[in-house]
Amino acid sequence: MTTHLITGAGSGIGAAVARRLHERGDDLVVVARDAGRAKELEARYPGAGSLVADLADPDRISWALGQQSMPETVDSLLHIAGIVDLGPVAELRPKTWHQQLNVNLIAPAELTRLFLPQLRAAQGHVVFVNSGAGLNAHADWGAYAASKHGLKALADSLRHEEHAHGVRVTSVYPGRTAGPMQVKVHSQEGKEYDASRWIDPESVATAVITAIDLPRDAEINDLTVRPGR
Ligand SMILES: NC(=O)c1ccc[n+]([C@@H]2O[C@H](COP(=O)([O-])OP(=O)(O)OC[C@H]3O[C@@H](n4cnc5c(N)ncnc54)[C@H](OP(=O)(O)O)[C@@H]3O)[C@@H](O)[C@H]2O)c1
Repeated sequence: MTTHLITGAGSGIGAAVARRLHERGDDLVVVARDAGRAKELEARYPGAGSLVADLADPDRISWALGQQSMPETVDSLLHIAGIVDLGPVAELRPKTWHQQLNVNLIAPAELTRLFLPQLRAAQGHVVFVNSGAGLNAHADWGAYAASKHGLKALADSLRHEEHAHGVRVTSVYPGRTAGPMQVKVHSQEGKEYDASRWIDPESVATAVITAIDLPRDAEINDLTVRPGR
């Protein structure tokens, strides 16, 4: 049985990935921000395990997980949770920087560190859902883009480090994808939101699942997914 540890399973891209993996009978362990959310997700994906960790507070993740029973096997670690808060550098305060760096970069690094023993034992796979902003930074996207550029660096370093242990590492770089995050982005941009203009989260889920399902003779390092219309 394949076990996937997944963040962001409650919404958008993560929910699409979790639903597809659950439907095909794989084992899921969801990382939820609090106990209430963990209960909701266990009800949504019957049979799934959960771990409670607030990714906004990476300093406490190790302690929080130390209070819970950890999965013995992890075949894939899917980092999909993320947050965005736009603003020009002239106005971004440290709190806004810290929030995005914590959830989008430092928490994935810490979760990866904590689960590397299981991933090495399984010759597993780490997937980072990055963003087009992890490759190009535009006006008003400084803090988010910095967190995602950092996430690219994390993935690339990890790939070099863990290759010898048989751990595969993939970054997926989606363009704008319909869902709650884009609703917020449009509101901050003062633009009208039209979900039909953007990538369906199911399509990004297909990219993620393609990467983890690839036979072991090959590894997808980087996958860019752009809106098709
Ligand atoms: N949407 C886009 O246009 C787009 C484009 C490129 C890249 N991405 C990236 O794709 C990923 C998923 O985006 P999405 O559109 O699916 O976003 P979303 O619908 O807003 O979902 C974000 C998920 O992250 C979780 N999360 C946020 N803060 C957390 C915290 N402190 N602790 C634990 N979980 C936390 C949320 O948990 P709750 O469910 O509990 O709120 C939610 O499940 C993100 O990394 C994002 O940066 C998105």
